Amino acid sequence: MQDTFGRSINYMRISVTDRCNLRCRYCAPDGACVQADGILTDEEILRTVKAAVSTGITRFKVTGGEPLMRPGCADLLRRLKAIPGVQSVTLTTNGTMLAPLAKELAAFGLDGVNISLDAPERAEYARIAGADRLPDVLAGLDAALAAGLRTKLNCVLLPGCEKRLISLARFAAERPIDVRFIEVMPIGAGREDPGPDRDKALAILRTEWPGLHAVNECRGNGPAHYYADDALMGRIGMIDAVSHRFCENCNRIRLTCTGLLKPCLCYGESVDLRGALHSGSEEDLRAALCRAVAAKPRAHCFEDRAGITERRGMSEIGG
Ligand code: 5AD
Ligand code: SF4
Repeated sequence: MQDTFGRSINYMRISVTDRCNLRCRYCAPDGACVQADGILTDEEILRTVKAAVSTGITRFKVTGGEPLMRPGCADLLRRLKAIPGVQSVTLTTNGTMLAPLAKELAAFGLDGVNISLDAPERAEYARIAGADRLPDVLAGLDAALAAGLRTKLNCVLLPGCEKRLISLARFAAERPIDVRFIEVMPIGAGREDPGPDRDKALAILRTEWPGLHAVNECRGNGPAHYYADDALMGRIGMIDAVSHRFCENCNRIRLTCTGLLKPCLCYGESVDLRGALHSGSEEDLRAALCRAVAAKPRAHCFEDRAGITERRGMSEIGG
């Protein structure tokens, strides 16, 4: 489906819970979460996805909060993947609960998993994530690779992360995974303190890999720009939403765990799906999806804090 700026919208990020077992400083969900009866059921999510497919949205990312905190999340992923017309289902997770599930996810054909990892060293990880879970994340990463899942690491470019960048990037040296660095977006606790931008991060990485060069590759749904070096098995990705706005290529809408469709991360505006879900009509659902796509703004305004009308945190919206 095309939006009013001629962009083709084919990708939906679905938050399946706002709960999380970590307390990352920059996301820092306070632990308060929506009552279970406010959260979309599996059936409601599946019906929304079926309606979305009929409008040309065929690629889905399941996120949260921590999606694997939702009871039965693996089964929901399997059922999403089985819907006719669904081209791709991927998962973004903090990785702490991934190890025991990786084989099952690979077996039904999950198309990939993005693991958030902001520090490669245990004490530093515990400081940033608010929990001493690095060994579980690394076990999840190993299990994902062993199961043959396409795996990427997501690392947020937090203030003070400069000293960790090379060791994080080294994950792409030793394993066939992409390591992506994400500029801090001024959403939720991310409003307070921006870290280094893409160019600063690249300059640091080039002290270790001077040959790191941009490659024109699309490796998923996202807007990451990729870089390669002969000494790296995987790619380095930069998600530079703040320093290099990429809204002209935006392809996505977001579904929150309570049934709100968000046209853009930056603004509080949303279309409530619950009426259409309760009416039981696929036509109503399709109409609500079209309203959300039609409401997509031209671009975010991260550089103008006053214009950012999204007040909720990333774990509530779905990162
Ligand atoms: N800016 C950038 N990335 C963020 N994430 C969470 N909050 C922010 C923010 N303010 C990341 C998580 C995860 C992905 C879904 O979003 O670390 O990797
Ligand atoms: Fe949880 Fe992800 Fe937020 Fe960390 S960034 S607290 S893992 S939702």
